[in-house]
Amino acid sequence: MSGWLITGCSELLTLRGSVPRRGAALRDLGIIRDGALLIHKDRIAAVGTRRSIERLREARGARKLDLGGRVVLPGFVDSHTHLIFPGCRADEYEQRIAGKSYEQIAREGGGIRSTVESLRRASPKTLRERALQRLQDFAAHGTTTVEAKSGYGLDWKSEAKILGVLHELHQEQPLDIASTFLGAHVVPREFRRRPNAYVDLLVKRWIPAVATAGLAEFCDVYCDRGAFTVAQARRILLTGRACGLVPRIHAEQLAHTGAAKLAIEVGAASADHLEKIDRNDIRAMSLSNVVCTLLPGCSFHLGSHGYAPARALIDAGAIVGLATDFNPGTSPTLSMPMILSLACAQMRMTPAEAIAAATINPAYSLRRHDRIGSLEVGKYADFAAFDVAGYREIPYYFGVNLCSLTMKRGAIIHSKKS
Ligand code: NIG
Ligand code: FE
Repeated sequence: MSGWLITGCSELLTLRGSVPRRGAALRDLGIIRDGALLIHKDRIAAVGTRRSIERLREARGARKLDLGGRVVLPGFVDSHTHLIFPGCRADEYEQRIAGKSYEQIAREGGGIRSTVESLRRASPKTLRERALQRLQDFAAHGTTTVEAKSGYGLDWKSEAKILGVLHELHQEQPLDIASTFLGAHVVPREFRRRPNAYVDLLVKRWIPAVATAGLAEFCDVYCDRGAFTVAQARRILLTGRACGLVPRIHAEQLAHTGAAKLAIEVGAASADHLEKIDRNDIRAMSLSNVVCTLLPGCSFHLGSHGYAPARALIDAGAIVGLATDFNPGTSPTLSMPMILSLACAQMRMTPAEAIAAATINPAYSLRRHDRIGSLEVGKYADFAAFDVAGYREIPYYFGVNLCSLTMKRGAIIHSKKS
């Protein structure tokens, strides 16, 4: 048999059960102590205690891998990244430390627009090589699936360049990449005085072209002060939806605009950020199927005290997810364990809630919960093993990478020498 018998899982967090997770169910990790997995090709063939799995006839011919008492969980599903960008913006970081705000820097031509300038000049080869290294780094931190957005091109050639690179990367390296068209990231310089003409271009030309060419699965809008209005975002997301692109939205990060309610109205898979939502929004989100994807890396990196109200959202019954928002302006981290640490310490999520919010719920938001997000028979053999004594230690330690092995679809894609 071509497969693996994985043993030595002191805690095997299966995350089996209902999808998506709300309220108390978010804390249910489905833990098997002294667990084992039997893997056939790229899928999980059996999961249970070591004794029950070792006894199976199919286990006999399998290659054996003893993890020596590590904590094993589904590979992280990072449902919000801006994977493709050249350089970084450490200069702006220093300006912010000196007192300038993120929005002030953006108004002066920095921010997203400065990354756009350099991305337009970058070759696909450079972007691809940079992203390849980053994907290896994602894997080294336990991530096995990433969502990735365009949005640093903002002209057709450059947006297509990003989506083309994402398509190639999905084919040529082990992590799965879910692509999102974010032509509506900000209004590009050329359209500064005619934002609605840019929205017309998106709606009439680019969105249909992206959908027809199969360049993305999702369509996103940065709906916020300084970016797109709710009315503009509605047009963009409804056009995307009519073309078959599932809506996602950057909502309520800098100002309360009504973007969260728009997410519900258009049936978005996910509303991301939500730092500025109010009680009304929390109630509305809890009655919807929109995943509230919280991005605490942004509040941390921007030095803001305004984290999203995770506790209130969970307690109200909303579907909560976590993601890195890996990008050069507001969250230059690709470490999901670091995001878990921030979620627990700054947003008072429990370690169990943070783990479910980083696996099964984002799998649901990416419409892949039938394949990933939990360790159950028939799903991809995507998991990460952590060198800790119990799952609570994953967020407890921060700033160190304790992921010792990552498997994606039955292949080892990261292994730390011990
Ligand atoms: O999710 N808000 C829009 N996009 C990113 C920031 C991108 C940037 O500053 O380059 C975000 O925070
Ligand atoms: Fe973002």
